[in-house]
Amino acid sequence: MKLIVGNQKSYLNSDAVDIFIDNLNTIQKKDNILICPSSIYIERFIQGDIRTGCQNVSKNKNGGYTGELAVEQLKSIGVSFALVGHSEVRKNFHETIEDTNIKILKLIANDIVPILCVGETDEERENNETIDVILRQIQGALEGLSTYDIKKVIIAYEPVWAIGTGNVPSNEDIEEVVATISDFFFDNYQFKAIILYGGSVNPNNIDTLNEIKGIDGYLIGGASSKIDEFIEIINKCQKED
Ligand code: 13P
Repeated sequence: MKLIVGNQKSYLNSDAVDIFIDNLNTIQKKDNILICPSSIYIERFIQGDIRTGCQNVSKNKNGGYTGELAVEQLKSIGVSFALVGHSEVRKNFHETIEDTNIKILKLIANDIVPILCVGETDEERENNETIDVILRQIQGALEGLSTYDIKKVIIAYEPVWAIGTGNVPSNEDIEEVVATISDFFFDNYQFKAIILYGGSVNPNNIDTLNEIKGIDGYLIGGASSKIDEFIEIINKCQKED
């Protein structure tokens, strides 16, 4: 069963969230669906009986940090997953690989599963740096973790140039990157990592993406805030099972 993670970014206003939750709850098999809503709606999703994660966390502990979302706070309301290292956070908030690493260490210490987002920019891709960039992001983010804890981390491969653009790499290109990530974990830590693909996933390309070998699921942005599109993607993935 594919893991389907929705990153709703800051797309939805309050009324739309109610409609989204009601409609998502019409789906019977929801174990493999995880929504990362805007933080102001997290508790509504949890109360709506939907597996819920957050889109970003603070690298600081709870205390005097205005506007931050501390891992300890998220744990206290029942959040069990967190995106970390998303390219929009790396770019807009100047998150470094070291910052991502600190966040992952805090998440693991608080029993929250990190979903580590990695991916190359257009320029890096053109310079044939994709694999180097991704392995650097992964190795840096996992610094200081034991093999036992590394096994808890989910990887989301999201090429920066594919996010929100409608452009998706070829199946062969995705398969090559996913295989490289998979080999990295197998060679260094002897386990099969969970690897998602993200970047312009939509109802029109999901059947093609489902043909890729080695992908365990998807991280979906825009289409995860449009309930009809999201349900169509879920149905097409569940048809595969
Ligand atoms: P889109 O699906 O809108 O391209 O966004 C992908 C993403 O950033 C998910 O984290």
